[in-house]
Amino acid sequence: MFSRGVLRAAAQSSRHFGARTVTRSPVSAQPQINLDGRRYVSVYGYTQAKALIYSKYGEPKDVLRLHKHSISAPHATQVNLRLLTAPLNPADVNQIQGVYPSKPPFQSALGTAEPAAVGGNEGAFEVLSTGSGVKNLNKGDWVIMKRTGQGTWRTHAQLDESQLIKIENKEGLTPLQIGTVSVNPITAYRMIRDFCEWDWMRAGEEWLIQNGANSGVGRAAIQLGREWGIKTLNVIRQRKTPEETEALKQELRDLGATAVVTEEEMLTGNFRDMVHEFTRQGREPIRLALNCVGGKSATSLAKTLAPNSHMVTYGAMSKQPVALPSGLLIFKNLVFDGFWVSKWGDKNPELKENTIKDVLQLMRVGRFKDIPVDHVQWSWETEGPTLAESVQGTLGGFRSGKGVFTFTGGD
Ligand SMILES: NC(=O)c1ccc[n+]([C@@H]2O[C@H](COP(=O)([O-])OP(=O)(O)OC[C@H]3O[C@@H](n4cnc5c(N)ncnc54)[C@H](OP(=O)(O)O)[C@@H]3O)[C@@H](O)[C@H]2O)c1
Repeated sequence: MFSRGVLRAAAQSSRHFGARTVTRSPVSAQPQINLDGRRYVSVYGYTQAKALIYSKYGEPKDVLRLHKHSISAPHATQVNLRLLTAPLNPADVNQIQGVYPSKPPFQSALGTAEPAAVGGNEGAFEVLSTGSGVKNLNKGDWVIMKRTGQGTWRTHAQLDESQLIKIENKEGLTPLQIGTVSVNPITAYRMIRDFCEWDWMRAGEEWLIQNGANSGVGRAAIQLGREWGIKTLNVIRQRKTPEETEALKQELRDLGATAVVTEEEMLTGNFRDMVHEFTRQGREPIRLALNCVGGKSATSLAKTLAPNSHMVTYGAMSKQPVALPSGLLIFKNLVFDGFWVSKWGDKNPELKENTIKDVLQLMRVGRFKDIPVDHVQWSWETEGPTLAESVQGTLGGFRSGKGVFTFTGGD
């Protein structure tokens, strides 16, 4: 378990924004041979690859298509990679819809008829081969991309070594853990660490409250809160039956949630009393709210906060604006912030790597459980529409697990 003191030292951060880089993969149409029914390497050393791309914005099922291309043998500092696992996150879909602020540039680098971008922003890849100038990576290493926006929904990729983070010790880790570590857990980690001056002498007596508590970010916040002695009050949406709702509450309590309520319970008149009871008649302050929903849900979170606390908005799943009673700003001096991990990571690459290492260590020792996932097997034969359809469901709500592409097509 991390001590609060150790983590304080690792918790320096900045919220400034930075620049984004662009991925280029040399391509060429080459004759191919299929070695042992698994490998797709041409006689000239070109690797056959497929990428889920889009050339215009729209619904994933309408604009995503599978593009076959080939990747040359790596030279200099280039690294050839094979996909292990890549999640389907809400922001990936927003990006394809064209409503997300960061838009990967459409390029012709993959030899597409029209300039295109590759979908996906995070994932775990295995190193297949390296150019002669590559210093720190070897065949078989596992890596993640340093920055978002480079396109991870592809069977293979060729990137420069400088664009990759090597997983130093993959023992005890799974591709799923590595492929989902760089966005959601890091977002939860930084929001908890960077927006609240926790009183470390009061471990176990301070709270955070969050909505979307069953999301990837929410589950990470619960587990980090448990590790750091911060109690969590978690808001979920009611399920179809009371039994299903109770099962989800229990799932989150098993992760370490101190209390779980439904959005419906939160919006009743009793919620104030419930909070009073949870927090020992207000003696244990709620010092941070994490909001990924907006609308009335966000307003209710804000009302529970102790004076001088922060609410961090990092998502807008209900698509409703955040409306706040003026008194919360005037009389309680609450602070309302936003957080975007992509820009934060671009600005703080070293801290991002250290944060990832911290979370991977928790995973390695079994103190950070995997998110529930809905595996989408991606083999060499998988058709584009099948993959596009699985992306389409990402924003649907009430899902049993996060969609995750797992490439089973070999090298
Ligand atoms: N700002 C950043 O840097 C950053 C980083 C990571 C994630 N995010 C954002 O954080 C949010 C969660 O991402 P994730 O990957 O953790 O999500 P996820 O695991 O895919 O889960 C989605 C969450 O959204 C909830 N949800 C869906 N539709 C909703 C609606 N109409 N009203 C209220 N809740 C709804 C779901 O609740 P149900 O199960 O009840 O449907 C679930 O809790 C997203 O908005 C994402 O864009 C932001």
